[in-house]
Amino acid sequence: MTKRLEGKTAVVTGGARGIGGHIAMALASEGADIIIADLLDATVAEPVLAAIAGAGRRSLLVRTDVSDEEQVRHLVDLAHEEFGQVDILVNDAGTVSQHSFIDLEVSEWDRVLAVNLRGVFLCCRFFLPQMLERKSGKIINVASQLGQIGGIEMVHYSASKAGVIGLTKALAREVSHLGVHVNAIAPGPILTDMMAEETEEWAARKLSELPMARFGQPDEVAPTAVFLASDDSSYYVGQTLCPNGGDVML
Ligand SMILES: NC(=O)c1ccc[n+]([C@@H]2O[C@H](COP(=O)([O-])OP(=O)(O)OC[C@H]3O[C@@H](n4cnc5c(N)ncnc54)[C@H](O)[C@@H]3O)[C@@H](O)[C@H]2O)c1
Repeated sequence: MTKRLEGKTAVVTGGARGIGGHIAMALASEGADIIIADLLDATVAEPVLAAIAGAGRRSLLVRTDVSDEEQVRHLVDLAHEEFGQVDILVNDAGTVSQHSFIDLEVSEWDRVLAVNLRGVFLCCRFFLPQMLERKSGKIINVASQLGQIGGIEMVHYSASKAGVIGLTKALAREVSHLGVHVNAIAPGPILTDMMAEETEEWAARKLSELPMARFGQPDEVAPTAVFLASDDSSYYVGQTLCPNGGDVML
């Protein structure tokens, strides 16, 4: 059977582990070569890189801080030098912290916004020109349900993720008729290293609210990214898809 992403190249930021890692592996299993752009190195990314190789696909890990313009420009140049073109961009890299608003330092606001929103902007800004030239491309931005409903002690994170949803919609309006599809994913609570940073009280309360009475796994988010990366999503524009176990129903 033909794989859905045969011959494609995907960049996955934050793909060294967690949701991004599972997205990278799922895209590879559908035939895509993968460039992982992450702060973390190959020791952390090893299981993801091994799975990509196991799927018979090529991979490259580029140590990148997505909030840094020069590093993103370097990533874009390297990706095109090594792979010729980039068909799929998954903006997954993200960071979180919990602070009551009254204690939220300006520096922490800036840090979280820089990674979660400026990082998405920079990657879109510098990968898009080549996609527009080819009149083809898929951009998938990983937001969060907290960008839809807000999270207590997470004003900075929620604002960054709401920003990602807004950026997705506006960019989709601007470039869809030029052949580039832009959509977002807003996961619910997913068991990754990021979630491990939450307190036990938070986890117990959240669990009691979830219709399925369990947290999600990263491989329950990855199929949504594969769908958005493939031709199956040809009429999806500026949408935010929600693998969230029913925590948020819009
Ligand atoms: N886990 C959840 O419950 C959940 C829910 C909703 C949304 N999300 C979002 O999903 C995405 C992935 O999160 P995760 O849960 O897999 O967490 P994670 O911490 O396992 O993965 C985040 C990845 O992003 C990378 N990263 C962080 N800052 C970076 C930077 N400046 N430049 C490049 N890479 C950077 C990390 O090194 C890591 O590999 C994030 O955008 C997160 O906000 C997570």
